[in-house]
Amino acid sequence: MTAKLILGTEIREQILEEITAEVKALKEEYGKVPGLVTILVGANPASISYVTLKIQTAHRVGFKEVQDSQPVDISEADLLALIDKYNKDDSINGILVQLPLPKHINEKKVLNAIDPDKDVDGFHPVNVGRLMIGGSEVKFPPCTPAGIQEMIVRAGVETKGAEVVVVGRSNIVGKPIANMMLQKGPGANATVTVVHTGTKNMEAHCKRADILIVAAGVPGLVKPEWIKPGACVIDVGVNRVGEKVSEKTGKKIAILKGDVDFDAAKEIAGSITPVPGGVGPMTITMLMKNTLKSMKFQLGIG
Ligand code: GUN
Repeated sequence: MTAKLILGTEIREQILEEITAEVKALKEEYGKVPGLVTILVGANPASISYVTLKIQTAHRVGFKEVQDSQPVDISEADLLALIDKYNKDDSINGILVQLPLPKHINEKKVLNAIDPDKDVDGFHPVNVGRLMIGGSEVKFPPCTPAGIQEMIVRAGVETKGAEVVVVGRSNIVGKPIANMMLQKGPGANATVTVVHTGTKNMEAHCKRADILIVAAGVPGLVKPEWIKPGACVIDVGVNRVGEKVSEKTGKKIAILKGDVDFDAAKEIAGSITPVPGGVGPMTITMLMKNTLKSMKFQLGIG
């Protein structure tokens, strides 16, 4: 058996088209488009490429987009003042401070300074709390977990009553996706187990999973014999395991490997996400969805 591929690259296109159409309709009705600011401190090459992609995507769906680049030695006080400026700017619905920040800046203090109603990353403690409560309390689910849930739903995988096993307990993927999948409601209502570095027999838990979500950051951690035949496998791992020359551009690019042994796993799973092209493209897509949602909340129609 070869698993059905769940492609983030395809689902991204569907969702971005939906967002573009909604932005156009809202602009006609309300004369306003969602505004997203990305704040980049310094010139970390990976951060520059992420921010560039976020801004390009925002532009594509018709948002007002602002890329605010700040020098690496900006003081914490100046960065907090900048955030305050965007908190007060009605044309901005989403504020994203690209992480990581330089060592002299307290990341927690910065993330906590963003107005929770503009925190489209969903990292502010208020939004973490809203997610935990669930239902209509939720404003901005964090983008990667939101993308995972969207992929599971759009792939037609039943979540109600399903055994979901999450590998990894990070604040940005493992903990929030576990929390989201156990909520009562569509695309969730599952029985959730979280396994992590303290778990005694990870394999035994994974083998029970109808939906296995792996976000451990360990290349090839999940072996084919850990997978229940027919399971849905979501691989969140993006591990750089080497470099190669791109056939398209002739430039050096990273060789990426997921946390799941894909070639063997696809012969056992019912559906599976590849790396790259699986969960990766969903994160920025859900950032756009959160920014659109934020403007709808502002207009009182969310
Ligand atoms: N750095 C890497 N991923 C992310 C993300 O999703 N949000 C922010 N703000 N910074 C990041």
